[in-house]
Amino acid sequence: MVGAVVMVRVTVAGRRRFPCLRSLLLLAAFGFLCLQLHVSNLATHETTSEPANDTVLILSMVPQVLHKFLTSKPRNVSQSLNGTNGNGTSMNGGLPIREILKSIHKYNQEQVVHNEDIFGPIQNDTLIIVIQVHTRLVYLRHLIVSLAQARDIDSTLIVFSHDYYDPEANDLVQSVDFARVMQIFYPFSIQTHPDTFPGQSKDDCPRDINVQKAQIMKCTNAEHPDLYGHYREAKFTQTKHHWWWKANRVFNQLEVTRNHTGLVLFLEEDHYVAEDFIHVLRQMQGACTIACPQCNILSLGTYLKTYNYYGDTKKKEAARALKRHQTLSAAALPPSWAFQILPSLYQHYHKAEVTPWVSSKHNMGMGFNRSVWAELHRCARHFCSYDDYNWDWSLQQLSQQCLQSKLVAIVMRAPRVFHIGECGVHHKKANCESTSVISKVQKVLASAARHLYPSHLTITFSSPNKKHKLRKGNGGWGDVRDHQLCINMTLPHR
Ligand SMILES: *[C@@H]1O[C@H](CO)[C@@H](O)[C@H](O)[C@H]1NC(C)=O
Ligand SMILES: *[C@@H]1O[C@H](CO)[C@@H](O)[C@H](O)[C@H]1NC(C)=O
Ligand SMILES: *[C@@H]1O[C@H](CO)[C@@H](O)[C@H](O)[C@H]1NC(C)=O
Ligand SMILES: *[C@@H]1O[C@H](CO)[C@@H](O)[C@H](O)[C@H]1NC(C)=O
Ligand SMILES: *[C@@H]1O[C@H](CO)[C@@H](O)[C@H](O)[C@H]1NC(C)=O
Ligand SMILES: *[C@@H]1O[C@H](CO)[C@@H](O)[C@H](O)[C@H]1NC(C)=O
Repeated sequence: MVGAVVMVRVTVAGRRRFPCLRSLLLLAAFGFLCLQLHVSNLATHETTSEPANDTVLILSMVPQVLHKFLTSKPRNVSQSLNGTNGNGTSMNGGLPIREILKSIHKYNQEQVVHNEDIFGPIQNDTLIIVIQVHTRLVYLRHLIVSLAQARDIDSTLIVFSHDYYDPEANDLVQSVDFARVMQIFYPFSIQTHPDTFPGQSKDDCPRDINVQKAQIMKCTNAEHPDLYGHYREAKFTQTKHHWWWKANRVFNQLEVTRNHTGLVLFLEEDHYVAEDFIHVLRQMQGACTIACPQCNILSLGTYLKTYNYYGDTKKKEAARALKRHQTLSAAALPPSWAFQILPSLYQHYHKAEVTPWVSSKHNMGMGFNRSVWAELHRCARHFCSYDDYNWDWSLQQLSQQCLQSKLVAIVMRAPRVFHIGECGVHHKKANCESTSVISKVQKVLASAARHLYPSHLTITFSSPNKKHKLRKGNGGWGDVRDHQLCINMTLPHR
């Protein structure tokens, strides 16, 4: 399964410069199964420890100057907008929807870049970090703390893409002082469309009725159940819409990125970065130029759990598909963190693997540039009409069915992005405020500190002949209104 191992020795000279190649060594083939065994034997299922202890522990590992990002200032909700909500209609954290829409429109129109006065204008090769933000501010605070500690973060532009308007989130994001920052707002959110499409309307068909019944009811989308016979659920469609919208927005619509040809890195609110992630991204870019022209996705993370299940993905995928169609509550479960990450993993700190991009493994901390986006954009119809509510599975489908050159990822073996969200966007576990994973990640990174900033990468090429069978989608994306909305986001609109 593993082909040749190429060792690319790259040194980073200077901040924004690209590394030059020292030497390129071809080594004999060797596998990496040893690591799997290593990790799986030591996996533990830790129960959540006391939240209070976690908090103390976490704070002790965060520099004092960054504590400000972890504390929420109490807001005086009753204050400003009390007078304007006379009608008592749909309120959101004290804000009437029309106020929210007005603000969103204003933000999207003005496209303010904060801190440009301190860090200078954006260049065509500035690293752009785009973070998809929903409502889980506890995690977002920690992501910001991790970003604040990353070397060279002051050379980046961080774009926060929100699908929920929340003054507290705005305060937090606007308090970021270590990099240039921009906020964009997904304009078709459920928050701003609580009872009309893209939200759930009372005329929409209930998820579980059959087509005959739907036709008798004459509900709006009677003719368009998904491939499992279920009708649309608004809350499950939002994430894919938002993902597609923000990619279109960043590459094709924002003024500030008009001439940008550099890398765009995609993160989510419940990710956490290692301090050397920018260094590593540059190493990966340099390595690709030299040794992997076919690579088009840089992936900073892989779910560590996959080490336990390597080669067992089919079963997992089947289970995942089943989940959506059997129990609603489990539908959008994030990969669980019932495993232990090991500092020893970072003995492999400089190793990267070139592999076909696999949605379930390489969707975290992935970066690509405008020319790759242009290819994806060309396949918009595919992405928008494929009956799967997951953006990553849709991308995978697009890679296999539409793209001229498939998605090939270079993936760091020791992740530089971690998933800290124990609770998904839709799924609420008992203890969603739990931060035990965060302290684990902090500990791992602290003990791996001397292994960070590798001076070179060692690249393994996994054999490309391993066919990924085409799978049936997960459904949830059968409604033609979703297809159309998604396509609409693709239309030119600068
Ligand atoms: C909230 O606003 C009201 C009215 O402006 C004020 O009387 C009150 O002290 C404020 N509360 C806080 C906690 O700031
Ligand atoms: C308040 O709600 C009522 C009933 O829904 C509606 O008829 C009226 O136009 C609303 N008034 C304002 C000012 O929005
Ligand atoms: C970036 O901008 C510089 C200066 O304007 C220009 O010389 C360079 O060719 C540009 N690079 C790309 C890749 O567009
Ligand atoms: C993009 O390039 C054009 C032509 O060189 C220039 O006029 C414009 O100011 C640039 N825009 C940005 C945002 O850099
Ligand atoms: C964008 O990425 C592609 C694929 O990785 C690469 O071939 C191309 O050179 C990159 N373009 C720029 C301007 O860096
Ligand atoms: C998409 O755009 C078309 C044309 O502007 C419009 O008629 C249609 O309602 C839009 N569809 C959605 C779902 O927004």
